[in-house]
Amino acid sequence: MITPIERHEQFITTSAGGFNRQHPAMRMFQKAKQLGVWDPASIDFSQDQQDWQQMSELERDVALRLVSLFQAGEESVTLDLLPLVMTVAREGRLEEEMFLTAFLWEESKHVEFMRRYLDEVAGAHHDLSHYHSPSYKTIFYEELPRSLNRLLTDPSPTAQAEASVTYNMIVEGVLAETGYYASFEAFKRSNLLPGFTQGLNLMMRDEARHIAYGVFLLSRLIVEHEEVWEVVQQRMMTLVPPAMGVVQEVFSAYDGEMPYGLTQDEFLGYAMNQFDRRYQRLERAKSQTLEQIYRIADQTEEASSE
Ligand SMILES: [Fe+2]
Ligand SMILES: [Fe+2]
Repeated sequence: MITPIERHEQFITTSAGGFNRQHPAMRMFQKAKQLGVWDPASIDFSQDQQDWQQMSELERDVALRLVSLFQAGEESVTLDLLPLVMTVAREGRLEEEMFLTAFLWEESKHVEFMRRYLDEVAGAHHDLSHYHSPSYKTIFYEELPRSLNRLLTDPSPTAQAEASVTYNMIVEGVLAETGYYASFEAFKRSNLLPGFTQGLNLMMRDEARHIAYGVFLLSRLIVEHEEVWEVVQQRMMTLVPPAMGVVQEVFSAYDGEMPYGLTQDEFLGYAMNQFDRRYQRLERAKSQTLEQIYRIADQTEEASSE
């Protein structure tokens, strides 16, 4: 249970050697300041507006479905991150909290980008929730808010691990990465929607840092607390079926008529590969030391995005 903090006994930044500028989260914070500073409001959508008018009704429906999934996903990660930020702050992990402020700011920009797209390109002001399929609802309406908000009453290491697996490994690491990659490839191959692909590219770079933080957090928890690995493993397995279900349900909505050269096998394969990579990465943490975790934490995910 949480006991409220009533006073600070000292400050990390004014204590002798308390603040660690070499902390992996600080290295991620430096990168966020250099790479995360892009403005969703200044991306040029004029070609996208023309393309939208020329696209077929089916092409528009698929694009609108994808944007509606991204939009609600970005909103939910923005709303649901705060309990984790609070948990990390309460543990006095200032360096991690500092990175999480950039993380949350970036998610807010992703919300802005998608909503701007709906307003200015798709002209979609009606309710879009009918695009949210059963598996999507399981993850974004239930599992994500439940596992993150549980931290408000139970900030234990195993609760943190369940929250981070749900948020960083499944929602960001499998679903966002697969969705962004699929859309980026589809529109790029079709030579359509250049403003959208530009935004997706920038968002993928942000997401790589978010996932890198999740890998660090989970690895740290796995090394520090013996009981965490079992929870991580179980949570990953519990969430695979609905995560793959999200991809399948996008394709089944179009009954073999999917435009843009998108195929279900390619993207299920991509999603499963993301899952396997993350799982193996976390499994390696079991045999690593805390010192190794701190040294390599920010190197793997981001190397692929820059
Ligand atoms: Fe995001
Ligand atoms: Fe993210």
